[in-house]
Amino acid sequence: MHSTRPAVFDDDPAALHVLWHALVPEPGGPDVRIRAVMISSVDGTTAVDGRSRPLGTPTDRLVYDAMRARADVVLVGSGTALAEGYGPARIASAWADRRPRPAPPVLVLTRSLPGELIAQCCSAGGGLEIAAAATTPRERVDAAREAGVTVHVMPDGPYTEALRTLLRDLGAREVAFEGGPRLLGEFLTQGLVDELVLSLAPEIVVGGRGPWLVTADEPRRVPMRVATAFTCPRGGLYTRWVVGRAPTDVGGTGSVDRADWADEANG
Ligand SMILES: NC(=O)c1ccc[n+]([C@@H]2O[C@H](COP(=O)([O-])OP(=O)(O)OC[C@H]3O[C@@H](n4cnc5c(N)ncnc54)[C@H](OP(=O)(O)O)[C@@H]3O)[C@@H](O)[C@H]2O)c1
Repeated sequence: MHSTRPAVFDDDPAALHVLWHALVPEPGGPDVRIRAVMISSVDGTTAVDGRSRPLGTPTDRLVYDAMRARADVVLVGSGTALAEGYGPARIASAWADRRPRPAPPVLVLTRSLPGELIAQCCSAGGGLEIAAAATTPRERVDAAREAGVTVHVMPDGPYTEALRTLLRDLGAREVAFEGGPRLLGEFLTQGLVDELVLSLAPEIVVGGRGPWLVTADEPRRVPMRVATAFTCPRGGLYTRWVVGRAPTDVGGTGSVDRADWADEANG
């Protein structure tokens, strides 16, 4: 039984210990683990007035900060980095003793490398780097580098392998992938996400405008299994999901194949 219900999180070393261990990834798995970290309301809304912060709770903040404190690299889409005003990662004081090394770099994924993103990386003064697609125009890469921004260009080839190769070259074993919904849709479809750490905010946004947890052109079904779930006195549900490997088409009335999870559960 993986569920746990700590009484209080704030300033409670025992609860912090439980939370930290709830976020340890599943054993086995690939050498580079991509772990998505998201928050949504109960109806699946991920932003209010274009930002996710209003959905956050103190417990969600602890989860988010812990995932950064665990990570070798933070990965995020350019839409999110711009909308949320990303800067360099910092290690929260609650987790500082568990991470005796500098905060991870934040890698912003982009294809077009817009000027706005270059300006944001410059004003961050380091710690916010670019991961450009192999197809990103050369002049955009040169413009960013001339402005002093670190740009990693993804190797040619299938996207999944290119991204894992880049992350491996950066020495990343554990990656906190912070969305957004469009990139999460792409990554899930391509089998790039190994786990989803999802906070459900204790509210429904009636008439919310999205974006919803995952956005994609083609609907796909991705099998998942819950590995950890807990709540806290102030509400909210904090979960860690393991992602199945093969997305399937939507259609018909059948359920997705969960045989692999059943086998695992039966030992
Ligand atoms: N609640 C949450 O947990 C949460 C988390 C994150 C974001 N959000 C919200 O979601 C919104 C932003 O998310 P979003 O879905 O619009 O954008 P996003 O997924 O963060 O970023 C999309 C961008 O990523 C780049 N990209 C996509 N595929 C790529 C690829 N294969 N290679 C390289 N770059 C690629 C492109 O950047 P270029 O256009 O630069 O080429 C694309 O426009 C905001 O409102 C934010 O507040 C919520």
